Amino acid sequence: MANVLIVYYSRSGNTRKMAESIAAGMKKEKVEADIRDVKDVNAADLLAADAIVVGSPTYYGSMAADIKRLFDESIRLHGKLDGKIGAAFASSAHIGGGNETTILDILHAMLIHGLIVQGDWQGDHYGPVAIGAPDKRATQECLRAGARIARLLKKLAA
Ligand SMILES: Cc1cc2nc3c(=O)[nH]c(=O)nc-3n(C[C@H](O)[C@H](O)[C@H](O)COP(=O)(O)O)c2cc1C
Repeated sequence: MANVLIVYYSRSGNTRKMAESIAAGMKKEKVEADIRDVKDVNAADLLAADAIVVGSPTYYGSMAADIKRLFDESIRLHGKLDGKIGAAFASSAHIGGGNETTILDILHAMLIHGLIVQGDWQGDHYGPVAIGAPDKRATQECLRAGARIARLLKKLAA
């Protein structure tokens, strides 16, 4: 069975709620995800995952330091994450507050690791975004992203 890791950092719960909705979207495709606070994630967890989904609140237009620390520590895995699936999501306080730059920062690190990233031509293009607590639209985007990641995982495994 596929091993999916959803990692998040969340001070006030918005990004955590998005992580839960992404996992719910995966569940609709019969894929179970392990949802973890970044403080409980180590290099071995990344290595064991077939898909790594990372969410962060937007902090000054970029990922929170705790998420950056995980990527910086992942240097010890350089070359070993190649070919896994990667995806990202973000929460900010404002429209135009930097969600997409935050997601792209995370995706840059994933691409350097050799992860496979799928965009979305119809939904949130780079990954799901929420303004504050995820509303109905953001929750739908998280469910959609989860289902798409799960389907890609099954397609690549076949
Ligand atoms: C240090 C810090 C920097 C932030 N920078 C931004 C920012 O650049 N743009 C923005 O829209 N929101 C910014 N915010 C707000 C958070 O991104 C927003 O409240 C987010 O929904 C929090 O997610 P969480 O509930 O998962 O912690 C910042 C918050 C903090 C604490």
